[in-house]
Amino acid sequence: MVGGVAGIVAHRGASGEYPEHTMSAFEAAVAEGADAIECDVRLTRDHHLVCVHDRTVERTSDGTGAVSELDLADLRAMDFGSWKRPGHPESVVTLDELIDLARSADRTLFVETKHPVRFGGLVEQKLLATLQRHGLSRPGDPASAPVVVISFSGSAVWRVRRNAPGVPAVLLGEASRLLGGGAATAVRAQGIGPSVESLRERPDTVAKARAAGRFTYCWTVDTQADVALCHGLGVEWIATNHPARARSWLQG
Ligand code: G3P
Ligand code: CA
Repeated sequence: MVGGVAGIVAHRGASGEYPEHTMSAFEAAVAEGADAIECDVRLTRDHHLVCVHDRTVERTSDGTGAVSELDLADLRAMDFGSWKRPGHPESVVTLDELIDLARSADRTLFVETKHPVRFGGLVEQKLLATLQRHGLSRPGDPASAPVVVISFSGSAVWRVRRNAPGVPAVLLGEASRLLGGGAATAVRAQGIGPSVESLRERPDTVAKARAAGRFTYCWTVDTQADVALCHGLGVEWIATNHPARARSWLQG
């Protein structure tokens, strides 16, 4: 949250216009004035964390296969840009590369772990080691932390909170799951992350989270009406595929 106004989070970068999770999308997010960047991370076969949403690379590259069965070098050889912007090939982005960009631009990073169960905690282990290497796991105020881990998996959130008390974590889910506060309390999440569709159904989720000392991160907020809803409810972080539009709607 930025000075009492909702912070804008560029979901997969400025992914409405640019190919998601590429440097062009992340750099556009910074240029458009997003306060934060969201990314999904997966482990490659040789245990590098890369920014890819899907289990496989087919939708967002010219390659084939599951990320977990490919080495980083295999992914490096693929084009992750041209599917969205023909003639603009782009490389896969590693978490290390994204952290460097976010730190140099002074933007908060929301890192979502994907498929943590399959790797039995290895994703969080690698993630926390990466954050430590970059000096990003020091205790401090969750509201101004440089990196926040987000996950639909309660066990992933719990592992982060237990092993890195300085790294804030958000439990993602539908508002109906998060409303009572029990799920977030059980895993010591400092924030909750409802979808905007579920928040429309249960807008009281935000006030209840605040009363319990938790902030709200809402995704994926791409219409003016939903930005207004989040703003009116006092949602702290608004994740959108269109950061510039969200900024203008917030100011308008
Ligand atoms: O930011 C949370 C949101 O990204 C969760 O859904 O599928 O886009 O990762 P998904
Ligand atoms: Ca995500």
